[in-house]
Formats: sequence, C-alpha cells, structure tokens
Amino acid sequence: MHKLLLKNIKTLVGTYENAPDCLKGEQMKQLPSIDGAWLACEDGRIADYGSMDDFPGISDWKDLEVKDCSGKIVMPCFADSHTHLVYAGNREKEFEDRLKGLSYEDIAKRGGGILNSANKLRGTSEDQLFDESLSRFKEIISQGTGAVEIKSGYGLDVKSELKMLRVIRRLRDLEWIPVKATFLGAHAVPLEYKDRRTDYIKMLVDDLLPEISKQGLADFIDVFCEKGYFDANDTRKILEAGKKAGLQGKVHSEQMSHSYGTRVAAECNAISADHLEYVNDEDIAAMKRSGTIPTILPGAALFLDLPLPPARKMIDSGLPVAFASDYNPGSCPTGNMKLVMSLACIQYKLTPEEAINAVTLNSARAMDLHSEVGSITSGKRANFIITKEISSTGFLPYAFGSDLIGEVILNGKKWQ
Ligand code: NIG
Ligand code: FE
Repeated sequence: MHKLLLKNIKTLVGTYENAPDCLKGEQMKQLPSIDGAWLACEDGRIADYGSMDDFPGISDWKDLEVKDCSGKIVMPCFADSHTHLVYAGNREKEFEDRLKGLSYEDIAKRGGGILNSANKLRGTSEDQLFDESLSRFKEIISQGTGAVEIKSGYGLDVKSELKMLRVIRRLRDLEWIPVKATFLGAHAVPLEYKDRRTDYIKMLVDDLLPEISKQGLADFIDVFCEKGYFDANDTRKILEAGKKAGLQGKVHSEQMSHSYGTRVAAECNAISADHLEYVNDEDIAAMKRSGTIPTILPGAALFLDLPLPPARKMIDSGLPVAFASDYNPGSCPTGNMKLVMSLACIQYKLTPEEAINAVTLNSARAMDLHSEVGSITSGKRANFIITKEISSTGFLPYAFGSDLIGEVILNGKKWQ
C-alpha cells in the first residue's frame, strides 16, 4: 500500500471534515484552509490532514514517501465538468475567418463549425482519435485537472457517436482521473438530415440511445438548445428519453440567444445548465427550484466575444455556480482551468475563494463527482495540486498567465 505524507504545507485549501455537496450563494465565499499543514494519503485516498502544530507521530508508517511543501499551496485538483476534448483536427482557419469579420453563425451556415468537426471526425480512425484526444487529456491533467466530463457530439451518426464514446471510455479506463461521459448527439443536425431535424431526433432516440444505454457508454445526455440547432421542445423530448434510459440531463442553454433551454433543464431536473449568456431572472428562479447547477464557460464567451453571463447575480441570488472550460475546437481551444479560475475573478468579479469553489467542489457537483473529488476530505480521492512556491492562495487567480502548477498528485502519486 502506497503512502504519501505532505509536510509543512504553506496553506492547505478546501479542507472539510464533512464536505457539503456544493456551495450555494454566500457559502461560496468560504474556503476553509489550514496554514502550516500536513496531509496524509493512503492507497490513493486522502487519509487525514491537520495543522503542523498537532503533527502526529508517524513511526508506525512503513514505506512512507514524504514531501516537504514549504512555501507551497496544496489545493484539490480542478474538476472540469464541461469539455468536448475528444475531437479530430482543429479549426484555426475558422478562427482566422472570424477575425476577418465572419460570425460563428455565418461559419456554421456555410457548413463549418460543428459540422466541420463532424466531417473530420468521421474520417479519422478510432485509434487516431484516441491518440489526438489522449494528448489533450494529458495536457489538462498537467494543468491541474483531476476529474473531467467529456461529451460526444462530433459524430452525429450511429457509428461515429459510438466511436467517440468508446474513445471516452478508453480515456476513463486508464484510471488516471475520474471521467464522466455525456451523449451529445443533439449537438447539430448533420448534412444528411438537412431539413429533417425530426427524423434526426427520432434516430437519436430510437436507434442510438438504446445502444449507448445497452453498452453503458454514457452517464449524461446533453442538447445544444439554440436557434438553428435544437429548440426547447426538442430538448425536452431528448432529455426525457435520456432519463428513461438512465441518463441525467445537461443542456447547452442561452449561449447565443434566449432559447428556453435553461427552463427545460430545470423542468427535467437536469444536473446542470451551461453557458447562460442570455439567462434571465425567471431562468435563475427555475434553477433555484430544481437544483440544476448553472455552469459558466468563460473561455467560450471570451473566444467568441459573447456578452458575459450574470455569474455574480446568480451567486448573489443563492445559486451554487460552477465554472468549467468547454475545451473544444470551435469555441474554446483550451482546457486550462487555472485560466478559467482567473477569468472568473477578472471578468465575472468572483473573489478568489468563490472562484476556487466554482472550479472544484461546485464543478465536481455539476458532474456528480462531489463525493469523490472537489475538497480535501478524508476518504476522497487523493487528487490535488501542489503549487510552485507562491505568496498566497490569491496569487493563483491573480497571476493569470503564469504556470504555477508545481506537481499534480493523482491517486496519492505524483503524475508523470
Ligand atoms: O459548447 N455551443 C455548442 N457547442 C460548443 C461549440 C462546439 C463547436 O463549435 O465545435 C460549445 O461552445
Ligand atoms: Fe460545450
């Protein structure tokens, strides 16, 4: 049994004897921490922690690896509850087109966007897709992500959606970090179903969903509820079919216009409603009633130059807000959660404590991994970040372009 002891930690962040599922409203301001701390891990789990002032005798610990963490902060790994990191190729050409004045919508209309990625993915072998995705998976782990949700949605036919979901399963089966899989067949209507959206939805529900459910390939089901993609009624229909197949809902809602996706998410008890640039007060009230977690994706809003979703207002109204990356080739070609945390402070005016909670415990809750990760709690998985030597916890979001991740510990062992 491997044992790891961290000593002399400058600040141990996010310590809870009994961790709450998530932090709502005012609670997000609290970040229980211990200055001058130790942390012990055993067999991949957090065993115990405390202040160096009460450091216990360790003479009975055999084969103990000890790390001195003087000057370093230790915090739970980031939990990234919204990514599309399984994809083929990239879309930097569309990026250049947007710089010249075309909009995301213009590009989608002429067959670019999601359909461009679907085209590339369909022509890529499963092994090649795995290799490309693996390098992004390794990249986000080295940037401090210790749990992730990954969506399908660039296959858009039976064969290719299953291929994507199998690649997600292969990443999960590496057992490096917890991985949740989301079926996002309703990401866009593929060309072969042009003007036949109802038939496409029928195919998703009648052909693809039963197969996914039979093979246990997904945990959640998601819909891009937006003008030109899927409307609120489609979203309801798909989430209800998902629920029957045992998949809880997630929705891409109110990203580019107000499309009522958040209302449907709340009605169907979806676990999260994500994006929310055009969310309104009634949507906020609906999420409060249902417990649906509002999830902000600041990288996508920045990259597409969208209006900022009202994160501050949602927190102040008592909601547990999560922040995630949306790592994907079209609207956010990065999965850097430290940057996401900084954007939460700089653009959305979260305090560093609120931002850390939004990218750890609340985002873990948004993918149902809060009992496994998201805080320093005995029994949770020993996935945490040891920073480089820094002056304080607040330095992490402040130094927004610096790589401050010293080491990533996964399952109680140093990652690579
Ligand atoms: O979350 N909004 C829809 N889906 C992605 C973008 C997908 C793409 O452009 O490839 C998003 O922003
Ligand atoms: Fe997304």
